[in-house]
Amino acid sequence: MNSPQQELHWWQRGVVYQIYPRSFDDTTGNGVGDLEGIIAQLDYLAGSDDALGVDAIWISPFYPSPMADFGYDVADYCDVAPLFGDLATFDRLVAEAHARELKIIIDWVPNHSSDQHRWFVESRSSRDNLKRDWYIWRDPALDGGPPNNWGSFFGGPAWTFDERTGQYYLHQFVPGQPELNWRNSTVREAMYDTLRFWLDRGVDGFRMDVIGLLMKDEELRDNPPNPDASPHLLANDLFGRLLSVHNMFLPENHERMREIRQVFDEYDERCAIGELWGPLDEWVKYYGAEGDELHLPFNFRWMDGMTWDSQQIRASVDTLEAALPDFAWPNYVLGNHDRARLATRFGGEAQARLAALLLLTLRGTPTLYYGDELGMPNVDIPPEKVQDPQGLNLGIERTRDVCRTPMQWDSGANAGFSPAGVETWLPLTADYATRNVAVQAADPTSVLNLYRRLLAYRRATPALYGGSYTPLDVEQQDCYVYLRATGEEKRLIALNFSAESRTLTIPAGGSGSVALSTYLDREGAVAGETLELRAYEGVIVEVESGEQGLGSRD
Ligand code: GLC
Repeated sequence: MNSPQQELHWWQRGVVYQIYPRSFDDTTGNGVGDLEGIIAQLDYLAGSDDALGVDAIWISPFYPSPMADFGYDVADYCDVAPLFGDLATFDRLVAEAHARELKIIIDWVPNHSSDQHRWFVESRSSRDNLKRDWYIWRDPALDGGPPNNWGSFFGGPAWTFDERTGQYYLHQFVPGQPELNWRNSTVREAMYDTLRFWLDRGVDGFRMDVIGLLMKDEELRDNPPNPDASPHLLANDLFGRLLSVHNMFLPENHERMREIRQVFDEYDERCAIGELWGPLDEWVKYYGAEGDELHLPFNFRWMDGMTWDSQQIRASVDTLEAALPDFAWPNYVLGNHDRARLATRFGGEAQARLAALLLLTLRGTPTLYYGDELGMPNVDIPPEKVQDPQGLNLGIERTRDVCRTPMQWDSGANAGFSPAGVETWLPLTADYATRNVAVQAADPTSVLNLYRRLLAYRRATPALYGGSYTPLDVEQQDCYVYLRATGEEKRLIALNFSAESRTLTIPAGGSGSVALSTYLDREGAVAGETLELRAYEGVIVEVESGEQGLGSRD
């Protein structure tokens, strides 16, 4: 709804911060982060004026797992891996977070389990095992090869042959991630109970992994070739050569989404977020025809194929706003554990600052990725240190390790992430001695302080967290200007995507004073009819009340 909101849910007003638990804080000295470390850093995130000021944390998987895909291969949906802690620690984490009014969102990986999950161990034990049908088993094709042509996202076929029972099982990621059979109602019930297990423990929401893959074509037909496939794909990239017609976005997914939502609705104020790539017209359906599916299908439009271009970014926002039904709430994601770091993708720290201002001033729920608030870049991973199966199978340039490196807390050994002398599971950035929380906290114009200021400003400004969005046309093609408004409160946001300074003519009625610049050095300056923006600068202008002419749609 593009109008002032009366009653907003926490997940609409709030800002989500993603924590990759292996890389946040290592309290046991084994080079890997843990839940105790998240508890230790809660004050950094919320609960005081000095805190970053986010409203929810989403924690990537901490379940027992052989770590073939770093926790996205779950061996028990209802426990904590000893590497990360135990259920008692998790309960303490929930209590400590809630004491700071911080919500807890956890990952749920419903499409596949680990091959070490007891369900799969049973399923593969014999063809007549009661859990055989819990996974997707098929006879070999006539030539003895895989049952169809599907490829794994991580390279190679999506099928592995099991000698003992003479059939193949389906896995669209690594072979250690067999796919659950969502056509089986017993599987569905068992999975819904795993949601209740955590909802009962006080979890406020789930981020649901590759939710668009749940249902597969009943006949498991071959996917057609992708005519636009890059000629540079590696030989084993079978997935990249095909169009995902029969394995993704099946209409039957929506029945599942409604069932999942009903589980959430058994509780108060819980939030259903889904990981969902793909075209806008398919994506938008996951809000449900009547708002009865996901609260927030993650919007990744700025992470894939988006270049640093004001017109493209504006178009992506305007198209999204136009596509959303009234009941659907927008959201934006700028970084996560699967994509290059924001600062690297968009070209540097100045651009990352501008992107932060954009993310935190648009209409909709923003999701931040740990370390982006320091402007952390991708970290070069030496070939012998690559851990991610995607990088190991599809080439080092595709490794996701680059964005999963340890959080940088201070200038000491291991950036304060692990004790001195410990080898961290992935290397730190080369500049960690200067790019860390302690250094940036003391620097009033640091990226960290930009995030803090922006988050505090957003929290205090209904026009930003709940108001309408109106794009404004300006002459300068490399600038993006919009108005956020609720009632009398108006904020003009002006973003210069260019590497040169620009002089904007403020549309009539837009004058006021600069409340915040991405460089944190010009608050209070009065904007006249024109507004000077330095290279990559973005500003929030508090439009003088009583100014007419802007936001007439409001
Ligand atoms: C999602 C996760 C990714 C994981 C994959 C398989 O895309 O974000 O990290 O490898 O699903 O679970």
